Amino acid sequence: MNYNQLILNDLIIGLVWSVIVCAFVLRGKGEKTIRRLKNIEKSIILSFVIVVLASGGVGFISSTLVIPHILFVLISILIPMSILYTITVSRVKTLSRGHLHDYKKGFKQHLWSEKSYNYLQSIEWDNTVFKNVQSKDVIHLSRDPENPSIIMSVSANRAQHELKLFEITKDHYSVRFICSDLQNAKVEAKLVDDKRFSYLDGNRDAFNLSETLCELQLEKVNVLLDKKGALWHNASQVKVDEFFQIAYKHLNSDGVLIIDGSVQSSLKQMVSYVYYHLFDRIIFPTERSTISKIKKYIGPGSFAGDHFEKYEVGSGMYRVIVFKKKELRGA
Ligand SMILES: C[S@@+](CC[C@H](N)C(=O)[O-])C[C@H]1O[C@@H](n2cnc3c(N)ncnc32)[C@H](O)[C@@H]1O
Repeated sequence: MNYNQLILNDLIIGLVWSVIVCAFVLRGKGEKTIRRLKNIEKSIILSFVIVVLASGGVGFISSTLVIPHILFVLISILIPMSILYTITVSRVKTLSRGHLHDYKKGFKQHLWSEKSYNYLQSIEWDNTVFKNVQSKDVIHLSRDPENPSIIMSVSANRAQHELKLFEITKDHYSVRFICSDLQNAKVEAKLVDDKRFSYLDGNRDAFNLSETLCELQLEKVNVLLDKKGALWHNASQVKVDEFFQIAYKHLNSDGVLIIDGSVQSSLKQMVSYVYYHLFDRIIFPTERSTISKIKKYIGPGSFAGDHFEKYEVGSGMYRVIVFKKKELRGA
């Protein structure tokens, strides 16, 4: 058998092996994104081991051909698997409501919000964002104990950011924080024993804000927060319009809706995702911002575009988008 023939054989063996592995990884429609990534990683390691062991056998026949053997088999395995890995990683960007199970216990994204929050805390995110918003003069928090500013977070998850904001504001302003979430994480949250801070029971859809407020005997709030939450998971014209209509109805005349608007490089996002997946550490957020998902639905002619002034506050990772109710003429 000549040298070219050997290389061809190696490439065919590698390709056949990677097709088997790819089929295994992709099997089952319901396979979860994160599990797939894990399977690809395991398969790559397994392939390395098999190739190196097999090359030992080849070494008996001809020691000079061992290195090219390993190289060519690995190349033909790595190329298809890297493509599969890249496609799978890119799917993570499109994780939507239907894929929320990736965040459940036992899956790689479990405690994701905790880890993301720790990262944001390490860069003083809450303090910086609060200072930026204050300096922009778009929100006027109350100092009247009888008439607190109501700050409602509709997708609070574990309410870490809300608690931090409460800590920052409670001694200087008169505030009342109300948190809720579609997948209630109240029991997992480290809440404070302070009647100015509450986390509502039950799974509450932000789109049912009217019912939630009605239960609390409230009609309007001063600030609505939705950080990577309801809008992020419902980025379509119909749902974005609906969300802004609800926000408009339940915000006071000078009320604001605040969403996340970080500016992130998608390459860094991707690298960070892979890093997180391999080493369980967040070096940079891996999810795109809410504004990047909804910006095409809030232009002129949309409900948001016609009824809210949009302010971009802060820059880079710290950017948030503040939507302030427009004053209606003659109102
Ligand atoms: C990535 S977490 C963000 C949590 C938190 N806001 C933060 O930034 O750490 C997304 C949260 O949005 C919530 N969520 C998704 N759709 C929602 C909806 N329609 N109404 C309320 N919460 C929703 C999820 O249950 C989840 O807790």
